[in-house]
Amino acid sequence: MKRIVVFTGAGVSAESGLKTFRDSGGLWEEYAVEEVATPEAWKRDPQLVLTFYNKRRKQVVEATPNAAHKAIAALESKYDVRVITQNIDDLHERAGSSNVLHLHGEIMKSRSTADENLLYPISGNLELGDHCELGSQLRPHVVWFGEQVPEIPHASSIMSGADIVLIVGTSLNVYPAAGVVLHAPPHARRYLVDPASVDVVDDLSVKVIKGIASEAVPLLVQQWLQESEVD
Ligand code: APR
Repeated sequence: MKRIVVFTGAGVSAESGLKTFRDSGGLWEEYAVEEVATPEAWKRDPQLVLTFYNKRRKQVVEATPNAAHKAIAALESKYDVRVITQNIDDLHERAGSSNVLHLHGEIMKSRSTADENLLYPISGNLELGDHCELGSQLRPHVVWFGEQVPEIPHASSIMSGADIVLIVGTSLNVYPAAGVVLHAPPHARRYLVDPASVDVVDDLSVKVIKGIASEAVPLLVQQWLQESEVD
Protein backbone atom coordinates (compact mmCIF):
# COMPACT_ATOMS: atom_id res chain seq x y z
CA MET A 1 0.00 0.00 0.00
CA LYS A 2 1.39 3.43 -0.89
CA ARG A 3 1.96 5.83 1.99
CA ILE A 4 0.52 9.32 1.86
CA VAL A 5 1.86 11.65 4.55
CA VAL A 6 -0.38 14.67 5.12
CA PHE A 7 1.34 17.56 6.91
CA THR A 8 -1.17 20.13 8.12
CA GLY A 9 -1.28 23.49 9.85
CA ALA A 10 -3.90 25.94 11.05
CA GLY A 11 -5.17 26.56 7.52
CA VAL A 12 -6.75 23.10 7.26
CA SER A 13 -9.05 24.05 10.18
CA ALA A 14 -9.67 27.66 9.07
CA GLU A 15 -12.93 26.79 7.30
CA SER A 16 -14.08 24.99 10.41
CA GLY A 17 -13.99 28.40 12.06
CA LEU A 18 -10.71 28.00 13.97
CA LYS A 19 -8.48 31.01 13.43
CA THR A 20 -5.00 30.65 11.99
CA PHE A 21 -2.05 32.26 13.71
CA ARG A 22 -0.64 34.53 11.08
CA ASP A 23 -3.51 35.51 8.81
CA SER A 24 -4.73 39.05 9.41
CA GLY A 25 -6.91 39.02 12.48
CA GLY A 26 -5.23 35.79 13.49
CA LEU A 27 -5.51 34.37 16.94
CA TRP A 28 -2.30 35.83 18.27
CA GLU A 29 -3.56 39.34 17.77
CA GLU A 30 -5.94 38.93 20.65
CA TYR A 31 -3.11 37.78 22.86
CA ALA A 32 0.58 38.50 22.47
CA VAL A 33 2.29 35.13 22.17
CA GLU A 34 4.53 35.84 25.13
CA GLU A 35 1.41 36.38 27.21
CA VAL A 36 0.00 32.90 26.93
CA ALA A 37 1.94 30.21 25.07
CA THR A 38 5.21 30.09 27.01
CA PRO A 39 6.45 28.43 30.24
CA GLU A 40 7.18 31.92 31.57
CA ALA A 41 3.55 32.94 31.12
CA TRP A 42 2.50 29.76 32.94
CA LYS A 43 4.76 30.67 35.89
CA ARG A 44 3.69 34.31 35.90
CA ASP A 45 -0.07 34.02 35.33
CA PRO A 46 -1.36 30.43 35.10
CA GLN A 47 -4.98 31.59 35.23
CA LEU A 48 -4.55 33.69 32.06
CA VAL A 49 -2.99 30.70 30.28
CA LEU A 50 -5.80 28.38 31.44
CA THR A 51 -8.44 30.90 30.34
CA PHE A 52 -6.80 31.29 26.91
CA TYR A 53 -6.83 27.55 26.29
CA ASN A 54 -10.31 27.14 27.81
CA LYS A 55 -11.58 29.65 25.20
CA ARG A 56 -9.79 27.80 22.38
CA ARG A 57 -11.01 24.40 23.63
CA LYS A 58 -14.61 25.67 23.57
CA GLN A 59 -14.10 26.82 19.96
CA VAL A 60 -12.68 23.40 19.03
CA VAL A 61 -15.58 21.54 20.67
CA GLU A 62 -18.04 23.76 18.77
CA ALA A 63 -16.19 23.38 15.44
CA THR A 64 -16.82 20.56 13.00
CA PRO A 65 -14.43 18.89 10.55
CA ASN A 66 -14.60 20.39 7.05
CA ALA A 67 -14.43 18.74 3.62
CA ALA A 68 -10.62 18.75 3.72
CA HIS A 69 -10.45 16.80 6.99
CA LYS A 70 -13.03 14.36 5.62
CA ALA A 71 -11.26 13.90 2.29
CA ILE A 72 -7.97 13.19 4.07
CA ALA A 73 -9.74 10.53 6.16
CA ALA A 74 -11.29 9.01 3.00
CA LEU A 75 -7.80 8.36 1.58
CA GLU A 76 -7.44 5.57 4.16
CA SER A 77 -9.63 3.31 2.00
CA LYS A 78 -6.76 2.97 -0.46
CA TYR A 79 -3.58 4.31 1.12
CA ASP A 80 -1.49 4.00 4.24
CA VAL A 81 -2.31 7.54 5.45
CA ARG A 82 -0.28 9.22 8.17
CA VAL A 83 -1.36 12.69 9.31
CA ILE A 84 1.29 14.87 10.94
CA THR A 85 -0.33 18.04 12.22
CA GLN A 86 0.87 21.21 13.94
CA ASN A 87 -2.73 21.76 15.06
CA ILE A 88 -3.87 21.04 18.58
CA ASP A 89 -7.52 20.53 17.56
CA ASP A 90 -9.02 17.04 17.12
CA LEU A 91 -10.76 17.67 13.81
CA HIS A 92 -8.66 15.14 11.88
CA GLU A 93 -9.65 12.44 14.36
CA ARG A 94 -13.30 13.52 14.36
CA ALA A 95 -13.30 13.35 10.53
CA GLY A 96 -12.17 9.71 10.79
CA SER A 97 -8.39 9.85 10.36
CA SER A 98 -6.98 6.95 12.37
CA ASN A 99 -3.28 7.83 12.36
CA VAL A 100 -2.68 11.39 13.56
CA LEU A 101 0.54 12.68 15.12
CA HIS A 102 0.26 16.05 16.90
CA LEU A 103 3.62 17.84 16.89
CA HIS A 104 2.40 20.68 19.12
CA GLY A 105 0.17 18.68 21.46
CA GLU A 106 -3.59 18.30 21.84
CA ILE A 107 -5.99 20.81 23.40
CA MET A 108 -8.45 18.04 24.32
CA LYS A 109 -5.89 16.58 26.73
CA SER A 110 -4.46 17.91 29.99
CA ARG A 111 -1.13 16.87 31.48
CA SER A 112 0.31 16.52 34.93
CA THR A 113 2.97 19.10 35.83
CA ALA A 114 4.67 16.46 38.00
CA ASP A 115 4.85 13.65 35.42
CA GLU A 116 4.50 14.54 31.72
CA ASN A 117 3.40 10.99 30.93
CA LEU A 118 0.19 11.48 32.89
CA LEU A 119 -2.42 12.69 30.39
CA TYR A 120 -6.15 13.15 30.95
CA PRO A 121 -8.85 13.77 28.32
CA ILE A 122 -10.67 17.07 28.84
CA SER A 123 -13.54 18.65 26.94
CA GLY A 124 -14.52 21.41 29.35
CA ASN A 125 -12.52 24.00 31.28
CA LEU A 126 -9.24 23.36 33.04
CA GLU A 127 -8.98 25.39 36.28
CA LEU A 128 -6.42 26.15 38.95
CA GLY A 129 -6.81 23.43 41.56
CA ASP A 130 -7.51 20.70 38.98
CA HIS A 131 -4.87 18.17 40.02
CA CYS A 132 -3.44 14.97 38.57
CA GLU A 133 -3.43 11.72 40.56
CA LEU A 134 -0.11 12.81 42.10
CA GLY A 135 -1.72 15.98 43.38
CA SER A 136 -0.02 18.43 41.00
CA GLN A 137 -1.71 21.13 38.91
CA LEU A 138 -2.83 20.06 35.46
CA ARG A 139 -1.74 22.07 32.39
CA PRO A 140 -2.82 21.99 28.74
CA HIS A 141 -1.09 19.15 26.85
CA VAL A 142 0.28 21.71 24.38
CA VAL A 143 3.88 22.46 23.32
CA TRP A 144 4.61 26.09 24.25
CA PHE A 145 7.12 28.31 22.50
CA GLY A 146 10.57 27.53 23.84
CA GLU A 147 9.61 23.99 24.85
CA GLN A 148 10.92 20.81 23.24
CA VAL A 149 8.93 19.23 20.37
CA PRO A 150 9.39 15.56 21.38
CA GLU A 151 7.56 14.05 18.37
CA ILE A 152 9.97 15.47 15.76
CA PRO A 153 12.09 12.29 15.34
CA HIS A 154 8.95 10.15 15.09
CA ALA A 155 7.42 12.56 12.53
CA SER A 156 10.64 12.65 10.49
CA SER A 157 10.79 8.86 10.30
CA ILE A 158 7.13 8.71 9.17
CA MET A 159 7.88 11.34 6.51
CA SER A 160 10.93 9.41 5.28
CA GLY A 161 8.59 6.61 4.14
CA ALA A 162 6.25 8.81 2.11
CA ASP A 163 5.34 8.04 -1.50
CA ILE A 164 3.15 11.15 -1.64
CA VAL A 165 3.38 14.24 0.61
CA LEU A 166 0.41 16.58 0.94
CA ILE A 167 1.10 19.85 2.78
CA VAL A 168 -2.07 21.76 3.69
CA GLY A 169 -2.63 25.09 5.42
CA THR A 170 0.74 25.89 6.92
CA SER A 171 3.02 28.86 6.38
CA LEU A 172 5.97 26.55 7.15
CA ASN A 173 7.17 29.38 9.39
CA VAL A 174 7.70 27.51 12.61
CA TYR A 175 10.66 25.19 13.18
CA PRO A 176 11.45 22.47 14.02
CA ALA A 177 7.95 21.42 12.82
CA ALA A 178 8.35 22.84 9.32
CA GLY A 179 11.63 20.96 8.87
CA VAL A 180 9.82 17.61 8.99
CA VAL A 181 8.80 17.95 5.33
CA LEU A 182 12.46 17.90 4.32
CA HIS A 183 12.66 14.23 5.38
CA ALA A 184 10.46 13.12 2.48
CA PRO A 185 12.41 10.78 0.17
CA PRO A 186 13.51 12.14 -3.24
CA HIS A 187 10.99 9.96 -5.15
CA ALA A 188 7.99 11.25 -3.19
CA ARG A 189 5.46 13.36 -5.08
CA ARG A 190 4.90 16.61 -3.15
CA TYR A 191 1.82 18.83 -3.18
CA LEU A 192 1.06 22.00 -1.25
CA VAL A 193 -2.42 23.50 -0.84
CA ASP A 194 -2.72 27.11 0.33
CA PRO A 195 -4.65 30.18 -0.93
CA ALA A 196 -1.60 32.33 -0.29
CA SER A 197 1.89 31.82 -1.66
CA VAL A 198 4.08 29.94 0.78
CA ASP A 199 7.82 30.18 0.32
CA VAL A 200 8.72 26.52 0.46
CA VAL A 201 12.31 25.59 1.14
CA ASP A 202 13.77 25.70 -2.38
CA ASP A 203 15.13 22.17 -2.50
CA LEU A 204 11.61 20.78 -2.25
CA SER A 205 10.07 20.25 -5.69
CA VAL A 206 6.48 20.87 -4.72
CA LYS A 207 3.37 21.12 -6.89
CA VAL A 208 1.68 24.22 -5.44
CA ILE A 209 -2.10 24.34 -5.65
CA LYS A 210 -3.46 27.80 -4.82
CA GLY A 211 -6.80 27.31 -3.17
CA ILE A 212 -8.68 26.77 0.03
CA ALA A 213 -8.43 23.39 1.70
CA SER A 214 -12.13 22.48 1.55
CA GLU A 215 -12.08 22.81 -2.25
CA ALA A 216 -8.55 21.82 -3.32
CA VAL A 217 -8.04 18.82 -1.02
CA PRO A 218 -11.20 16.88 -2.03
CA LEU A 219 -10.25 17.34 -5.72
CA LEU A 220 -6.76 15.93 -5.13
CA VAL A 221 -8.15 13.07 -3.04
CA GLN A 222 -10.70 12.19 -5.73
CA GLN A 223 -7.84 11.98 -8.26
CA TRP A 224 -5.72 9.79 -5.97
CA LEU A 225 -8.60 7.45 -5.16
CA GLN A 226 -9.12 6.91 -8.89
CA GLU A 227 -5.45 6.29 -9.63
CA SER A 228 -4.71 2.67 -10.49
CA GLU A 229 -2.90 0.58 -7.93
CA VAL A 230 -0.06 0.22 -10.43
CA ASP A 231 2.94 2.62 -10.60
N1 APR B 1 -7.21 26.63 3.31
C1 APR B 1 -5.87 26.34 3.25
N2 APR B 1 -4.91 27.12 3.80
C2 APR B 1 -5.32 28.24 4.43
C3 APR B 1 -6.68 28.61 4.53
C4 APR B 1 -7.65 27.74 3.94
N3 APR B 1 -8.96 28.01 3.99
N4 APR B 1 -6.74 29.79 5.22
C5 APR B 1 -5.47 30.13 5.53
N5 APR B 1 -4.61 29.22 5.03
C6 APR B 1 -3.15 29.19 5.12
C7 APR B 1 -2.50 30.55 5.25
O1 APR B 1 -2.32 31.14 3.97
C8 APR B 1 -1.18 30.17 5.91
O2 APR B 1 -0.20 29.84 4.94
O3 APR B 1 -2.81 28.50 6.28
C9 APR B 1 -1.52 28.92 6.71
C10 APR B 1 -1.58 29.18 8.18
O4 APR B 1 -0.29 29.49 8.60
P1 APR B 1 -0.05 29.86 10.14
O5 APR B 1 -1.14 30.80 10.58
O6 APR B 1 1.39 30.27 10.26
O7 APR B 1 -0.31 28.51 10.91
P2 APR B 1 0.72 27.32 11.04
O8 APR B 1 1.61 27.22 9.84
O9 APR B 1 -0.08 26.11 11.42
O10 APR B 1 1.59 27.75 12.32
C11 APR B 1 2.50 26.79 12.81
O11 APR B 1 2.89 28.23 14.68
O12 APR B 1 1.86 29.59 16.16
C12 APR B 1 2.51 28.38 16.04
O13 APR B 1 2.22 26.40 17.27
C13 APR B 1 1.57 27.28 16.38
O14 APR B 1 1.19 25.19 15.24
C14 APR B 1 1.34 26.59 15.05
C15 APR B 1 2.60 26.91 14.29
